[in-house]
Amino acid sequence: MDDLFFNRDPDEPDAPRTPEAIVTELVDNLVASLINARIYWTNHPRVLASLQTVISLLQEACVKTAKESVAVAVSTDFLVFDDRPLLGASIAAPRLIKALDEWSSGGLKLSKSATVADLEVLLEAIRAAPAEGNGYEQINEKLRRGSRQPIELLPVYREIEDGVEGKPPELRGKCVVPLQLYQSAMDLLQGLTVSVSTGKTIDFAPIQTHAELMLQRLESNEGALMNLARQDHYDAFTFGHSVRVSVLALNFGRSLTKDSGALIQLGTAALLHDVGKAMVPFEVLHSNKALSAEERAEICRHPEYGAQILLDHEHCDPHAISATFGHHCAHGHRGYPKTLHEHRVSMVTDIVGIVDVFEALTAARPYKRPMSPVRAYRIMMGMEDKFDRRLLKRFIQCNGIHPNGQLIQLSSGERARVMRQTTDIAAPIVKVETDREGNFLLPTEQWDLDLSVQSTQVFHVTEQLAEDPATLVSSA
Ligand SMILES: [Fe+2]
Ligand SMILES: [Fe+2]
Repeated sequence: MDDLFFNRDPDEPDAPRTPEAIVTELVDNLVASLINARIYWTNHPRVLASLQTVISLLQEACVKTAKESVAVAVSTDFLVFDDRPLLGASIAAPRLIKALDEWSSGGLKLSKSATVADLEVLLEAIRAAPAEGNGYEQINEKLRRGSRQPIELLPVYREIEDGVEGKPPELRGKCVVPLQLYQSAMDLLQGLTVSVSTGKTIDFAPIQTHAELMLQRLESNEGALMNLARQDHYDAFTFGHSVRVSVLALNFGRSLTKDSGALIQLGTAALLHDVGKAMVPFEVLHSNKALSAEERAEICRHPEYGAQILLDHEHCDPHAISATFGHHCAHGHRGYPKTLHEHRVSMVTDIVGIVDVFEALTAARPYKRPMSPVRAYRIMMGMEDKFDRRLLKRFIQCNGIHPNGQLIQLSSGERARVMRQTTDIAAPIVKVETDREGNFLLPTEQWDLDLSVQSTQVFHVTEQLAEDPATLVSSA
């Protein structure tokens, strides 16, 4: 078993598709087409396939909302749909946000009559840097079809309240730093894939810098980054998977060592572990159909491809090469790639192998609910010889039944955020964020509670709650 084949869990019921989920997937496909247009050209079949998906999702969203168009606004670093922050889509869309920003546009309106040809014009236009003084109106001119405007770039989003402009109402006054870091890591991995696909040299320095920044963020507020890492988004290129694996690996690594140099090596290796997927044909990697034996074998070559890419570079950390090659190798000489001898692997590779599977099992996707940590642990404990058992147990102890950053309901009625684990894996230390009626407390009124030392039954976890993007950001 491995991460790639966990994407759809037949036992999990389909999550209802909300308009937000549909528009999130629409934006992710638009971002995928932007990235593929950088690797190939605007009317390459891979780009056209993503654009066709955008059109299908646009029509689905229009039916669902009973509207003639879908408008997505840009506000600071966020995409906004229906006046609410679209957090999942925002994470993966820094390139789209930057392109719109360069053209002085505050968003995008797609009417349900828009076609793939219209999207091609849009793509071609926004990829170019605007000439001095040119703004989004020039692109709208190109997109006009007689008296119709099937796609329209919108003016800058300006909601003004209390003198603060440019943020949707729910985000005013809230800190968005973890989102910027997460977006920046996604942007970095998008650029890495473009470099690998086009035969350019990889610059490892910014990858190490991002591992270091994520480590610093975890040190100062692990809950915020860990929670952001659980936001669902379609993530056409699985970049989000690598960022989340890195966050999980760093969080676990911190419980094993205080050596920041070793932790940065671990975070860097985790960011790079699936770099070989850039060499697997897009249609195979993202096929919605059952894979043939040849296609499956091709996907299983991504560790070899990845190691070869890194070996062809000077100054690549050996731990990253080892983790890239070995994260699907299992103890007992199982897994892949197959080698004539079983070799001892570094702890970095073992850690990446564990968090890779955990992330794939518990990842949220628009089309499936995330698996609970407990169910994921059960499955992983049942995967004989796949993992170093002692290390897997340490990971479960570190990550807990209620992982850091998780929003939970207490039996007393308050809602609380998991801050740290204790020796009791079911009873973490939490920060109480609401009163019993669900009203949010001011930061100065919030209080810490160690559930492992509660002698009464008043305070125990009754439920893990789904996250509201606005409350998530407020906790940053
Ligand atoms: Fe992999
Ligand atoms: Fe992976």
